[in-house]
Amino acid sequence: MIVSVIGVGYLGAVHAAAMAELGHDVIGLDVDSGRVAAMQAGRAPFHEPGFEEILRRGLAAGRLRFTTDYAEIAHADVHFLGLGTPQRADGFGADLRYLEAAVASLAAVLPARGGAPTLVVGKSTVPAGTARRLRAQLTAVPGADLMWNPEFLREGFAVQDTLAPDRLVYGVAAPDTPAADAQVALLDAVYAQLIAAEVPRLVMGFETAELVKVSANAFLATKISFINAIAELCEATGGDVTDVARAIGMDDRIGGKFLRAGIGFGGGCLPKDIRAFIASAEDLGVGEALGFLREVDAVNQRRRVRVVEIARELLGDLAGRRITVLGAAFKPDSDDVRDSPALEVVSRLMSAGAHVTVTDPEALDNAAKRVPGLVGEPHTEQALAGAELVLLLTEWREYRGLDPVRVRNLVAAPRMIDGRNVLDPGVWRDAGWEIRSLGRGAGPANGTSVVDGPAARPDLPIPA
Ligand code: UDX
Repeated sequence: MIVSVIGVGYLGAVHAAAMAELGHDVIGLDVDSGRVAAMQAGRAPFHEPGFEEILRRGLAAGRLRFTTDYAEIAHADVHFLGLGTPQRADGFGADLRYLEAAVASLAAVLPARGGAPTLVVGKSTVPAGTARRLRAQLTAVPGADLMWNPEFLREGFAVQDTLAPDRLVYGVAAPDTPAADAQVALLDAVYAQLIAAEVPRLVMGFETAELVKVSANAFLATKISFINAIAELCEATGGDVTDVARAIGMDDRIGGKFLRAGIGFGGGCLPKDIRAFIASAEDLGVGEALGFLREVDAVNQRRRVRVVEIARELLGDLAGRRITVLGAAFKPDSDDVRDSPALEVVSRLMSAGAHVTVTDPEALDNAAKRVPGLVGEPHTEQALAGAELVLLLTEWREYRGLDPVRVRNLVAAPRMIDGRNVLDPGVWRDAGWEIRSLGRGAGPANGTSVVDGPAARPDLPIPA
């Protein structure tokens, strides 16, 4: 089959390479000619395990190419829409301009197919109602119709999540009609290998499919903010949030995943998606239904502020103090710094006058673009040299495995804030460190020592 993917940002690029991997002839289109040229040359424009490999394999096999010209994709059987839906500059809602412009450009070239069936398949995360509006833009094009097939991929696992998803969700304009059945059969043919591998496939109306995606993200964000709210209670009482998470997670109905307390969620999806969901509920006149998501957002923001408060509890005035931050990416195995909690903490420390050195295995270039004046040091040990306080803010494997005895000899003063609850406080204290972990131990009035707690929980789910 001939497949196009319009918008080869994170989602679209991975989808295009994955469709080539499934054996289709794929053309990726983007208005960004630099990005198109990079990918045509086999260079991944972002860090994602396994992506460059399938990109190069698709290019070498002649099954994958990239263009900026809509005329070159006019003959495809299926067009996936992988465009971004950023937060609007004037509020919480999603900016749908890129999607609308892409569908308009596509509608202009599709008549070249002379009415042959063409399926446009939306993958972006959108407010309910978007698919139906975009479909209306295609009504004048004979043979063209639209489906909505939301994407659930996680950064760091994007290739695996695309080629072996938990489920496929198909949104159609009118379920259980012959037209819908024909579209479902066509998309099944695109995903034939996944269907054969018995990936569950659910067919539903447009609005339901759109809501599945935003509900999934809202639930995940809520789970993280829930445990981070409990972390606030732990800090006020001397409790240990990692033990709370472990114990409640053993209840199957709750489940232990996504209960890692720390500096909270960031990235290109969860923060903006919950805000867009709130805005969409308000537009629909049911804003109260999602009022709790404002609290989810507020808890998440408070954690970033709390880290800086703990730094003040440990150092007093931060002006002129030497602080090293481990991690800039919004999560490990990613070079993405969009809405990164780590970078927000860095900015706050810098505003307070601290001399901050940031290290990260992949995200330093992106971090420097985002935070003017940021001092980056790629080598962990050099970054640690002379620090009066160290903050672990992104739980890269190499930081989780740091040897407290060795590191103590590098820093000026052995003080650590573990913003991700990945270090064993007992081991670090035994090695002479003053360590504070978010949601564990020391109450607010007792700022400089951690109440002894059980050892860290290596069995808590942590990404590989
Ligand atoms: C998320 C969703 O998981 C994915 O299904 C959707 O398609 C896109 O948004 P992603 O943004 O790649 O994926 O990251 P994810 O692994 O979900 O982590 C999001 C944030 O939550 C990260 O900042 C992470 O550090 C944080 N997090 C995650 C926690 O703070 N605690 C947890 O227990 C889990």
